[in-house]
Amino acid sequence: MQNSPLQPRVGILGGGQLGRMLLQAAANYPVETFVLENDEHCPAAHLCHHFTKGDIKDFETVYQFGKGLDAITIEIESVNVEALEKLEAEGVKVFPKPAALRIIKNKIEQKKFYQHHQIPTSEFVITENKEELKALQSFLPAAHKIGMGGYDGRGVELLKTAADIERGFDAPSVLEKLVAVHKEIAVIVAVAQNGETTMYPPAEMVFDPVLNLLDYQVSPAELPEKTFWKVEAISMAVVRNLQSPGLFAVELFVDKNGDVLVNETAPRVHNSGHHTIEGNFSSQFDMLWRIMLNFPLGCTDAILPSVILNVLGEEGFSGPAYYEGLEDVLKMENAFIHLYGKVQTKPGRKMGHVTVIGKDRAELTYKANRIKHLLKVKTK
Ligand SMILES: Nc1ncnc2c1ncn2[C@@H]1O[C@H](COP(=O)(O)OP(=O)(O)OP(=O)(O)O)[C@@H](O)[C@H]1O
Ligand SMILES: [Mg+2]
Repeated sequence: MQNSPLQPRVGILGGGQLGRMLLQAAANYPVETFVLENDEHCPAAHLCHHFTKGDIKDFETVYQFGKGLDAITIEIESVNVEALEKLEAEGVKVFPKPAALRIIKNKIEQKKFYQHHQIPTSEFVITENKEELKALQSFLPAAHKIGMGGYDGRGVELLKTAADIERGFDAPSVLEKLVAVHKEIAVIVAVAQNGETTMYPPAEMVFDPVLNLLDYQVSPAELPEKTFWKVEAISMAVVRNLQSPGLFAVELFVDKNGDVLVNETAPRVHNSGHHTIEGNFSSQFDMLWRIMLNFPLGCTDAILPSVILNVLGEEGFSGPAYYEGLEDVLKMENAFIHLYGKVQTKPGRKMGHVTVIGKDRAELTYKANRIKHLLKVKTK
């Protein structure tokens, strides 16, 4: 391992929008950045010092990429964990630790982890194939989640009645009881190398029922004090038991009784933390650099309440992206546009996000809806 403490060499597996925003924050720090990704036109490609084209799922590719680095992190879970384990054994710092990633990467292992540590989560059974699922009609309504490889809602099917079972997965999966969700909450927790932790104010999510993608999100979430304490205690329990430095996003459900259940955890920067770029003193991206470079943790306090909404490819348009209404949004006060640099749009593709910050929550929601109507990703 090359060791240059003044300018550490840090690699990122994956070059999507999360990698891109992580690199935007890296520009403030003494660090040399490396990205491994199959697509050389990916959002993060031109923001790093060194780009390597290659498969993040391939052992040899990840190992060779990581060998000369001081530290390595991920922007997506579907990476080669065995290579990260070997790199860790050889002295490369890995964020999160491969052992934590192994638990989270597989939704079956993740649920077992919550169960083992008595962390509240919805009741579940494991299904190896569709035949087993068919025998579990009495367990419905439930969410069927594929163990490995799901992303952005694509590995999740909500099965309400027996007729929905056809949509279930014919691969090892989790079948979990459908929660009567009152609110969906996400909490970002930072864990320093010395074990010190800090938590961002919870964010509250609102979903598009058709695409199953985040529609918009408000932060800080409005929660009764008692619910807030539960959210905090559960999020900290998840992260403590993962025993790894890094940045973690814990997604939780709050039901009508104020009971809190963990949905899932991501061991990396996360879409639910994008508002922290403008809305909080230290953004989630800034925070991860502080962790990896062994600097003091940043301040997670909100500067002002914020709303984020996704900029998704419009239905019926596929091809080179054109942003209708961009100038109108740019004229709006305290609205911040982040386009991810994806050349091609297609229906539902995440092309960017907009954050609005402001004191008045009603005004935030009003502005978010206005932006939703104004800004459309089409083709010319
Ligand atoms: N047990 C459940 N009860 C009720 N709703 C659920 C349940 N599990 C999942 N959902 C709904 O489906 C959404 C997607 O589920 P989940 O977060 O597990 O999937 P995902 O594919 O990892 O999504 P993403 O990558 O977007 O976070 C949740 O945000 C929630 O709205
Ligand atoms: Mg999720």
